[in-house]
Amino acid sequence: MIPLPLARIAEITSGALSGMADPRAVVRGPVVIDSRAVEPGSLFVAIKGARVDGHDYAAQAVRAGAVAVLATRQVDAPSVIVPDAAAALAALATAQLRTMPQATVIGVTGSAGKTSTKDLLARLTARIGATVAPAGSFNNELGHPLTVLRADADTRFLVLELAARTIGHIRDLTHIAPPQIGVVLNVGTAHLGVFGGKEAIAQAKGELVEALPATGVAVLNADDPLVAAMADRTEARVTWYGRGESAVIRADDVVMDERGRASFTLRTPSGDAPVSLQLYGAHAVENALAAAAAGYELGLPVTIIAEELSQATPRSRWRMEVTDRPDQVTIVNDAYNANPDSMRAAFEMFGVLGEGRRRFAVIAALRELGDDGPALNTELGRMAGAAGLAGLIVAGPDAEPVLRGAHATAQASTHVPLPASHPWTPAPYDAGREMAAVGGAPPGPGAGPGGTAPSAAPAEPVTGPVGAVPPQAQGTWIVHVPDAEAAAAQLAGRLRPGDAVLIKGPRAMGLERTAELLLGGAAQ
Ligand SMILES: Nc1ncnc2c1ncn2[C@@H]1O[C@H](COP(=O)(O)OP(=O)(O)OP(=O)(O)O)[C@@H](O)[C@H]1O
Ligand SMILES: [Mg+2]
Repeated sequence: MIPLPLARIAEITSGALSGMADPRAVVRGPVVIDSRAVEPGSLFVAIKGARVDGHDYAAQAVRAGAVAVLATRQVDAPSVIVPDAAAALAALATAQLRTMPQATVIGVTGSAGKTSTKDLLARLTARIGATVAPAGSFNNELGHPLTVLRADADTRFLVLELAARTIGHIRDLTHIAPPQIGVVLNVGTAHLGVFGGKEAIAQAKGELVEALPATGVAVLNADDPLVAAMADRTEARVTWYGRGESAVIRADDVVMDERGRASFTLRTPSGDAPVSLQLYGAHAVENALAAAAAGYELGLPVTIIAEELSQATPRSRWRMEVTDRPDQVTIVNDAYNANPDSMRAAFEMFGVLGEGRRRFAVIAALRELGDDGPALNTELGRMAGAAGLAGLIVAGPDAEPVLRGAHATAQASTHVPLPASHPWTPAPYDAGREMAAVGGAPPGPGAGPGGTAPSAAPAEPVTGPVGAVPPQAQGTWIVHVPDAEAAAAQLAGRLRPGDAVLIKGPRAMGLERTAELLLGGAAQ
């Protein structure tokens, strides 16, 4: 950060020095909210969270080298007392940016792909000048200013991720760091419940382009109608990216390799160049195009853009991390988070990567979808059930709609006719009985035909726990487990060489633990 004496920090934040704080003592950064991250010269910001109160760590932070503590109540340390810590951080970030006219702020928003795109774009801007971008998803009222405060006099680019939980949230973030370039990726169904509808989500995301000056650039996805409509909400010039002809920055001749990685020709008004992504999934093309469009606007040659995009590997953890175990089992760890759109994207990619292989998926019910939650989770189940899996493991609470959907299509998708003498009558799905494997012996070493999925109907009468649907009609083994550990335990003994496993669920489920266990417990 650009060094600031405590007197100036108090002035900017409308705070009062306390605890014998020396007004001339200079904060050189970093500004942190985690006392363990304090370094000599830091400003420690005490945040009162649900479980931990940062004020309890004030003295410890100063012992570790913090110059002072930004606090909302008296603490046993030199401090600047402010009424609201987040507002104080925002004021500091805004004031710092004003002293950095050389820095261009680029904001990225959208329902899915913000972090992935931000990471790609930061690679591109780094080819031009010093770049500050947050690690992971630092995208809210704390992460945003903390990132800005990492910039200094040398910083040329700030690449920021903006997330919205309500209307007005992104607008507030753009007041902290006014963007010159705004990238909007897509309007999907993430946090649908909080917003109450896709139009409201579009309203919120569009606040990024509304904040752009007439001299700025809005980078918009031409393929998403709700994003395209945002062109009317900005004074800035619009640069379109997408797959279609109308896009200025385009991907042509998209080809997926057998692992689900895309290659394409990047087309720009100043020339074309071949790109081979190392990132997985078709959706990575969209993120790459968004980053390319912003890079193009910054004047980067298309060859450099293509080179950087082709060299990029995931920077932030648990997003489509594909690992081959020594026994040729492939684990796709996409456990960072999930919403209906990213689930679809992941299953699409997994269909390519898992082509001709025995496939398993570990998923969990999606959250924060409001009244639509049960319906969207049933839809997720239907998609998973129809994905030709050998096994589907649904972990955690509220799994019933997912399981119901999965049973419905797993049954329908196998096209195995019921024998005339079939002893069972299909009963409505019974959530109380879904815990055990439904529909026959779970696939395991030596079980089933292997190689192809879904597995054919068992030849033998089924002796396992009988579920609500007749096993002959069941191509996918479906099981409900309480948590990430149990999911790993279900799979551990069953995987055999050549299998592929997709792991994806909402953040709170922590399904990366399943991946970690299947990969031998190594720290992820
Ligand atoms: N353009 C896209 N369309 C659909 N899904 C995507 C897209 N880009 C990434 N994903 C998937 O969405 C998930 C989250 O990706 P990423 O972290 O980049 O998104 P994000 O918008 O930053 O999410 P968050 O709001 O949780 O910070 C990953 O599972 C990823 O595979
Ligand atoms: Mg993110």
